[in-house]
Amino acid sequence: MKISPSLLEELIATRKATESICKPLQTEDYVIQPAEFVSPPKWHLGHTTWFFEQFVLKENAPGYELFDKDFAFVFNSYYESVGEKVVRTDRGNLSRPGVDKIYAYRSYVTKMLTDFLAENEISKELEDVIQIGVHHEKQHQELLLTDIKYILGNNPLLPVYDEKFQENEIDTSTQKWLSIPKGLYTIGHSNTYEFCYDNERGVHQVYLNDFFISNKLITNKEYLEFIEAGGYKNVLLWHAEAWDWIQQENIHAPAYWHQVDEKWYQYTLGGLIPLTEKAPLTHISYYEAFAFAQWKKMRLPTEFEWEAAQHKFNWGKRWEWTESAYSPYPNYKKPDGALGEYNGKFMVNQKVLRGASLATAKNHTRITYRNFFHPHLRWQFNGLRLAK
Ligand SMILES: [Fe+2]
Repeated sequence: MKISPSLLEELIATRKATESICKPLQTEDYVIQPAEFVSPPKWHLGHTTWFFEQFVLKENAPGYELFDKDFAFVFNSYYESVGEKVVRTDRGNLSRPGVDKIYAYRSYVTKMLTDFLAENEISKELEDVIQIGVHHEKQHQELLLTDIKYILGNNPLLPVYDEKFQENEIDTSTQKWLSIPKGLYTIGHSNTYEFCYDNERGVHQVYLNDFFISNKLITNKEYLEFIEAGGYKNVLLWHAEAWDWIQQENIHAPAYWHQVDEKWYQYTLGGLIPLTEKAPLTHISYYEAFAFAQWKKMRLPTEFEWEAAQHKFNWGKRWEWTESAYSPYPNYKKPDGALGEYNGKFMVNQKVLRGASLATAKNHTRITYRNFFHPHLRWQFNGLRLAK
């Protein structure tokens, strides 16, 4: 069969969207890696391209010639089963290949890919791999934005990425507690014709007790009250490892908050602005979300409670930390081959986040989507919603 026209269109649009995210950058911004969990923008550009070269072109396009035989080593991320790769912490030590060469790599692979798809019939399995490639690149678009924010936001000059970039859309609705009745709820992605990741499959039922969930995310103002009430100094609110983390890292506010002459500011991709008090809080770790909930004498929802209740509230501006550990659903099956490394091997020591954020790519959200991060990480647009 030929590739579906809508998928082909999405593929081309996605390749372009990645490059538009990088438009405001200067060449030097593409290169540095100020923290282990951040990747240099040029690495994202190369890696999302390598994915298509490795899993689509190399294995399926007759006579395909690699753009550069050394690129797989530089741009493989974590697929151990497809060869050697550069260690993650060294991604920022590569001045070569240069940015121009990586853009040339992108153009070459996009062209070879679209030519291949125009001229050839493909199997359903290959179409599925291309779809994963598109969604993989969309995930990297969000990482690109948050990595760029980290790179610029940790520069003492706090450079502006795009002065029109708006992070703080205010939800003007009144806070309410939504009551969800106890009972059995169906969790997971059951629709077989719509794309989802393997970790959402394994539809199953869970029993939930009666609970309440807030219709609104916690705002900066509410979190400021926690800080002013000494939340970061009260050991009783924190997990043991969280307490160690705030001491060692000298944490006393969300990431990107700056206090100057008693006034709070926040660094955004639009630059440094006075803290927008009514905006939803962001850039907190799971540890901080948990401590805040403790202080309020409430809790975070589980990912099942979130999924059962999500049709009753607005979501999509902040990833929402949940109380759930990232683990396989009943009947979870890891796909065969290298793409089985996509999700399954990360199901340890991480917490699930639900929803989406302002940085999430278009056509990349679902009510069953399971995002996951280690509990101390907070450079994504993470926020929190309370339950009780
Ligand atoms: Fe990746």
